[in-house]
Amino acid sequence: MRERWTWRGAFVVAAIGSAVGLGNMWRFPYVVYSSGGGAFLIPYLVALLTAGIPLMMLEFTLGSRFSGAAPLAMKRVKPSFEFVGWWAVLAGFAIITYYAAILAWGLRYLWGALTLEWGADAGTYLYDKVLQIMPVLEAGAYGSLFGLSTDLVIPFILGWLAIFFIVFSGVKGLGRVVMITMPLPFILILILMVRGITLPGAVDGLNFYLASDFSQLANAQVWLAAYGQVFFSLSLAMGIMIAYASYLPRDADISNNAFMTSLADALTAFLAGIVVFSTTGYVAYKLGVPVGEAIASGVGLAFVAYPEAISMMPVAPVLFGIIFFITIFTLGLDSAFSLTESVVAAIMDKFSLGRKLTAVIVSGAAFLIGLVFISRGGLLWLDQVDYFVNSFGLVLVGLLTCLVVGWGYGADKIRGLINETSEIKVGVWFDICIKFITPIILIVLLTLNLIDRFKEPYEGYPAFMQIVGGWGFIAVLIILGFVLMKIKGREPKYGSEEGEV
Ligand code: PHE
Repeated sequence: MRERWTWRGAFVVAAIGSAVGLGNMWRFPYVVYSSGGGAFLIPYLVALLTAGIPLMMLEFTLGSRFSGAAPLAMKRVKPSFEFVGWWAVLAGFAIITYYAAILAWGLRYLWGALTLEWGADAGTYLYDKVLQIMPVLEAGAYGSLFGLSTDLVIPFILGWLAIFFIVFSGVKGLGRVVMITMPLPFILILILMVRGITLPGAVDGLNFYLASDFSQLANAQVWLAAYGQVFFSLSLAMGIMIAYASYLPRDADISNNAFMTSLADALTAFLAGIVVFSTTGYVAYKLGVPVGEAIASGVGLAFVAYPEAISMMPVAPVLFGIIFFITIFTLGLDSAFSLTESVVAAIMDKFSLGRKLTAVIVSGAAFLIGLVFISRGGLLWLDQVDYFVNSFGLVLVGLLTCLVVGWGYGADKIRGLINETSEIKVGVWFDICIKFITPIILIVLLTLNLIDRFKEPYEGYPAFMQIVGGWGFIAVLIILGFVLMKIKGREPKYGSEEGEV
């Protein structure tokens, strides 16, 4: 019998936990700033309404009405669609291999926060001490591993133990853990926000964040950035929301849950932006430089700029260091186990394997592959794989989902299913978004990314990295998806489980 969420609200809390991740903290604020400031909220909300929320409703419906993780749900929609589910799951598997490495950096820094180990120069600390990438760069040996970074081994093991035990403990365990991992980072972000806005210089930082340049609304790149951010941030097209929804009863409300998840994600991102920019304003004030020079995103924000800001805090820097890295760790943890669960659930469905064995196999494999990313040269591989999965894997899976379900099965039928159980009824706009708007945007994104890559290799990395961590690896995903579809599975018969019709 399929596992079920054990308390009302567990599903939506888990979905929010997955969606709210590092992307909210280290990606959203920067995208806002570089895409028109406050004015960016318009394309962002439009992208949320026309792509994020409809696709999330679609994934929720697939999971709950077809009672399966991505491949099985797709198969039940139509047998020839199963491969799309596998592509989603495999892309998710690729992400978890390196996402866990970032979690390990977070844990390493949490340890370092106890003594503010990075001092005033977090850049040297990150590259020299934690990642130990300098010998690779000095030798110009891009793509070589140079052994494991000794500082990351223990945090990586601890991180994986956490992910593993949570997934191992099943849906009941997931439901318990998210009671902490979802609200905790949110509360900590509120604390960091109050700290941030009461620092001198904060207002300058916030002006930078939200100063609206409405002329940017005419820039197509800005709109594409909004759609890209929405996709990544809502954990769509990875099979996660389908797997989580497959533990819902069939009559669960879809649209309400989708609105709550997306809005909670957007709100957290917006607040994280206030944290990042108010604190950056303070750093700029202390250093006497313009805010634009102090701003960073991604790795540079969470592991260099913000830690340096912590060292400059007028009171209790150690406390804020600990708060910040607990935030980073708990933001990432529930996103990480949601990814693992997507893969575990898919394999359990297909081969009728037990959860415990499947959790061991999936976590074990992802752990071993992930060692590449905690090697000394691992950051470059991480960057390479991350770029490819997000720019091609995720976009392709999102596109195919809209096409096969929207056109092949019928967006109107999905809408019918949504409206059967949802309080907020959805109108024809849903069909239009799933059949036209989202696919068109995704095709444009895909084409632009392809053109970029044919012009020059990503970041100028050597050819073998582009092949192994890029094209070759995408090709393997594609082939493996078909192979898995062809393998005869041992899926439960549709309708044989409690709660199914
Ligand atoms: N949504 C997560 C974030 O905002 C990232 C993520 C993407 C997690 C895809 C899982 C899958 O950080």
